[in-house]
Amino acid sequence: MNKTGFIFDLDGVIVDTAKYHYLAWRKLANELGFEFTQEQNELFKGVSRKRCLEILLEIGNIKASQEQFSRWLVEKNEDYLSLIEEMDESEILPDVLKVLQFLKKHHMPIALGSASKNARPILEKVKLMDYFDVIVDGTHVAKAKPDPEVFLIAAKQLGVPPKDCIVFEDAVAGIEAANNAGMLSIGIGDDKVLSEAKFVFANFTEIDDQFLNKLIGLTP
Ligand code: G6P
Ligand code: MG
Repeated sequence: MNKTGFIFDLDGVIVDTAKYHYLAWRKLANELGFEFTQEQNELFKGVSRKRCLEILLEIGNIKASQEQFSRWLVEKNEDYLSLIEEMDESEILPDVLKVLQFLKKHHMPIALGSASKNARPILEKVKLMDYFDVIVDGTHVAKAKPDPEVFLIAAKQLGVPPKDCIVFEDAVAGIEAANNAGMLSIGIGDDKVLSEAKFVFANFTEIDDQFLNKLIGLTP
């Protein structure tokens, strides 16, 4: 039987880092003299750091030189890193471990496919590194989701054809990327927002062993 490859997004799927990203972006916006709301932060999910800053500056109607732009990118990331400094296993989202342990028990290949350049340190903080056979993050990809690049690299490194890969994603752009890669997409979040996904669950507590058995091909 051919193996199924499992690819997990990080932010919003394994850990809820959006709140920390939000605080760091809001601080920068406030320093630049404008407000940045939680609703606007929704637009940043799954979006690269550079693109987030471009959108933020559009919201604030601010023009930046190359040098300022780079400085603000560094500043935001430093603030973000200090906010997640104390992060630990308690921040792993509910039942993520249950799913990872199930897949490990059945020797399924597992990858991380994230836009974040901070993915490795975050996985280390929450002590999940050992679950991942492959890590593809923002330091490895040139094209951002919804481009399928990140997931195609992950599939290649897992040695599993894209059509046999399953992606867990919380962002619209991520679901699109998985679909564009020819993979089965599973949305974690609101089914109205993630309507392009093949399946949607509010969170991993809604995913039971019966569904997981189906995914790994044990039951039809
Ligand atoms: C994830 C998050 C985005 C974030 C991006 C880059 O996709 O959902 O909100 O902007 O990663 O993260 P980084 O840690 O590299 O700034
Ligand atoms: Mg995400």
